[in-house]
Amino acid sequence: MSDAAVDKSRRTWIAITCGAGAVGGAAVAIPFVSTFAPSERAKAAGAPVQVDISALRPGEKLTVEWRGKPVWIVRRTPEQLESLNQTEAQLADPQSIRTAYPTPVYARNQHRSIKKEVFVGVGICSHLGCSPVDKFAPGAQPSLPDDWAGGFFCPCHGSTFDLAGRVFKNKPAPDNLEVPPHVYLSETVLLIGEDKQA
Ligand code: FES
Repeated sequence: MSDAAVDKSRRTWIAITCGAGAVGGAAVAIPFVSTFAPSERAKAAGAPVQVDISALRPGEKLTVEWRGKPVWIVRRTPEQLESLNQTEAQLADPQSIRTAYPTPVYARNQHRSIKKEVFVGVGICSHLGCSPVDKFAPGAQPSLPDDWAGGFFCPCHGSTFDLAGRVFKNKPAPDNLEVPPHVYLSETVLLIGEDKQA
């Protein structure tokens, strides 16, 4: 996107990723808008990005940019964590065994994270690269099943993911959302792009 879309102090990032690749007449570019504040130098180098999540409250999501990709950090509520039990049987790869986007060992668990409540995932669909949208509210709503437990919805071709970024069965997306390498530098500071445990 052009730099015109970027506000200097509180940068707004707009990525339009999947319009050209869409099929079946659904070639609608889906803009994804988010805010982030990585250091300019880190971005330029594709270096790991340090994020302070101390202000992130339960139920909230923060997006940072790492190597040109949106990385989501979601602090899940107890109810949202509980929803991962509900989705389990409907998922294509609940254990994150598939290898197209290998899940780091420390996130190969039901919640796909180091700290149970904090999900860190790349917000790019494994189908054609759209950025799914938040559908955190459970329950019936347009384009989603009546027993929706909360998660993410990719409007391009309808793939759905639970609140651990695990893709549902029989969807175009072949894999779960990628979990980037990451590590906690302290209780509330994350480093995305590097893991000292690997
Ligand atoms: S890009 Fe096609 S379903 Fe996500």
